[in-house]
Amino acid sequence: MYQLFNGDCLLQLNNIPDGSIDMVLTDPPYSSGGLFAGSRKQDTRTKYCDTEHNGAARFQNFSGDNMDQRSFTAFCREVFTTLRSKVKEGGILGTFIDWRNLPAMTDALQMAGFIWLGIVVWDKRTSRPTPERFRNDCEYLVWGSNGPRSAPMVKGCKVAAGCYSIPGVQSKDKHHQTEKPVELLENLLRLVPEGGTVLDPFMGSGSTGVACMHMGLDFYGIELDPGYFQVSKKRIEEAEF
Ligand SMILES: C[S@@+](CC[C@H](N)C(=O)[O-])C[C@H]1O[C@@H](n2cnc3c(N)ncnc32)[C@H](O)[C@@H]1O
Repeated sequence: MYQLFNGDCLLQLNNIPDGSIDMVLTDPPYSSGGLFAGSRKQDTRTKYCDTEHNGAARFQNFSGDNMDQRSFTAFCREVFTTLRSKVKEGGILGTFIDWRNLPAMTDALQMAGFIWLGIVVWDKRTSRPTPERFRNDCEYLVWGSNGPRSAPMVKGCKVAAGCYSIPGVQSKDKHHQTEKPVELLENLLRLVPEGGTVLDPFMGSGSTGVACMHMGLDFYGIELDPGYFQVSKKRIEEAEF
């Protein structure tokens, strides 16, 4: 089963039953890019889609990516607070972010009442060249639970790795400027119980939904942009069979 909603997640989340979600796996606009406030106000194509780097400039810009750090923290806190009412007791919220807004994200998750349990590292195996600096070739999944998540260490219990080295989606295969690889998402969804329910309130081109269809999980997805919403609908429909 899947259900998709086109609109602002803060409004569309009213369509999701309270206490029904095993895992929120999401990838909000990072409000990142550049080192200075002026750079962060540029459109997403300019910030993230240098053609020589990943060639994703052919896709349309998306909104919600121009907040300064204080507004970004407040926005995420508000969305995550609403999400918490949708997540089962002990269920998971996992949210992607890059290095710049990592501190804001760990703050927002905790302010919303989730228990912060860690940071999963995604090694993208590529990044822009940065002479005389360490490369920023990783992104992160900040994750936590809605109340305690206690499970005994027994035979057959699930243990998921905390670091994944999976290449980013190749330009020719992309559907979105900042698309996440389905293989990575499938790994991150391994802690969802069999037949469980997943929510992505910033689904973009629907990669989380595609991963859920491959894994037999139920999925709720929300996307603001009508163009990307249509892309996600088509991808998820095709992945269901
Ligand atoms: C980083 S992208 C997600 C990309 C996705 N992980 C994929 O693989 O395609 C974030 C998405 O959130 C959407 N968005 C921005 N503000 C939103 C809001 N308030 N409610 C719902 N979606 C929003 C943007 O249009 C954008 O497509």
